[in-house]
Amino acid sequence: MSPLEILTFPDEFLKKPARPVEQIDGELQRLIDQMADTMYQAPGVGLAAVQVYKNKQLLVYDIQSRDEGRELHVLINPEIIAREGRIISENEGCLSVPDLRADVQRAARILVAGVDREGKPLRIEAEGFLAVVLQHEIDHLNGTLFIDHISALKRQLYTRRINKQLKQQES
Ligand code: NI
Repeated sequence: MSPLEILTFPDEFLKKPARPVEQIDGELQRLIDQMADTMYQAPGVGLAAVQVYKNKQLLVYDIQSRDEGRELHVLINPEIIAREGRIISENEGCLSVPDLRADVQRAARILVAGVDREGKPLRIEAEGFLAVVLQHEIDHLNGTLFIDHISALKRQLYTRRINKQLKQQES
């Protein structure tokens, strides 16, 4: 299976809030498998459907993706129903935001509700790195990137750098 193309900033599609998944069928299962392959190949610890040009509230994650103990998790129609505390996520990055890492303020603990790939209800209590990954991926489904949480100045500098690169590629 060939990996899917990952959209990158400033693609406007990344700003679109995703629509809820209404039907879990064979097509969705294929998309999940392709997203998992794409995430592992990248490699990354999480991938949201909007990053591969699918307007669906769907994400995959595996915080062990670089290790041998891989365990794929699928989350459909996720919602953060409680947040507590604050942590700084150091050097956060994103497959859709190349060549940038930044510290981001996140909730330290969250409770997430959603369904798994079989449609079974899920509740995930997460803290630390897992909480950060889930907040980052759920942000994607709401059209938010981690650079929306950093200072306006840093974001401007990054935008300028990317626009310059794009211009150089054109000419
Ligand atoms: Ni991301």
